[in-house]
Amino acid sequence: GWRTPDLYLFQEFWYSSRILQGVINSQKYFQAKDGDVVVASFPKSGTTWLKALTFAIVNRQHFSSHKNHPLLTSNPHELVPFVEVGFLGDIHDRISNMAEPRLYATHVTFPSLPKSIQESNCKVIYICRNPFDTFISCWYFFNKIKPESLPELTMEEGFERYCKGLIETGPWWNHILCYWKESIDRPNKVLFLKYEDLKDDISFHVKRVAEFLGCPFTQDEEISGLIESVINLSSFEKMKDLEVNKSGTTVMNVEKKYFFRKAEVGDWVNYFSLPMRETLSKFIEEKFSGSGLSFKTCS
Ligand code: PPS
Repeated sequence: GWRTPDLYLFQEFWYSSRILQGVINSQKYFQAKDGDVVVASFPKSGTTWLKALTFAIVNRQHFSSHKNHPLLTSNPHELVPFVEVGFLGDIHDRISNMAEPRLYATHVTFPSLPKSIQESNCKVIYICRNPFDTFISCWYFFNKIKPESLPELTMEEGFERYCKGLIETGPWWNHILCYWKESIDRPNKVLFLKYEDLKDDISFHVKRVAEFLGCPFTQDEEISGLIESVINLSSFEKMKDLEVNKSGTTVMNVEKKYFFRKAEVGDWVNYFSLPMRETLSKFIEEKFSGSGLSFKTCS
């Protein structure tokens, strides 16, 4: 149920029974290839944005103009599917047969990814968001997608769960720290990005992603405005108004419009009480001290 969440601890992280099946199956059956690109994140951290950006960057040769671009007619979650969702019992695995370079996503923590993703030369791009905005985004989203028969979760209840890590693929602090550590140990394998940094300088980060993937923008491409075009196609303003993102549902039966809310840095100040703010600040201090990782919480 929603109030006593159906969550199971598996390899130190929480999963709903449905997703857990996909995680276990993908560990067993999924085979990564060297050229694969994996977009990884904790939920509500900028996944949809990074999926769109990476898709536009990787496929820029095929779609040099806006006309007929797949991002105009498909939701990013359709173009860049989640591995664990692909391996749910009733959903056909769409990843194994994708055209190369294959681009797919995951919310699963690094150590629980299929071994072949961890060990092959495929590239992983992780996006992290400050835990304040992530919480508000999670709280809104989960109240939207909960079964109608169940009452809404109050912010206090949601916050309590969030601070216990009791949320799909949580605890979020260990999720972030696992990818952070991996990105330091293997910088050519894992690129660690922050939502707030992308908001600050998207052009720089588009170039950085392309370089990391081994396909840097050429001078000609830059001059022809290809970077701006990637940024534009992936922008919140553009995507949220597209018909394909306003109606219909994803394979997980989530209304696509729920992936687009406010997309701001610092929106949390409109919701947090002073005690909540102090609790989370102290908590972050505790969990991340000594890691070298810090968060920008206002714009
Ligand atoms: S999910 O369910 O994990 O895939 O959700 P995710 O995409 O990670 O997070 C949703 C939040 O990201 C905002 N969003 C965007 N920000 C910037 N650019 C683009 N294109 C974009 N698309 C979605 C979305 O509004 C959610 O944040 P909040 O703060 O709730 O608005």
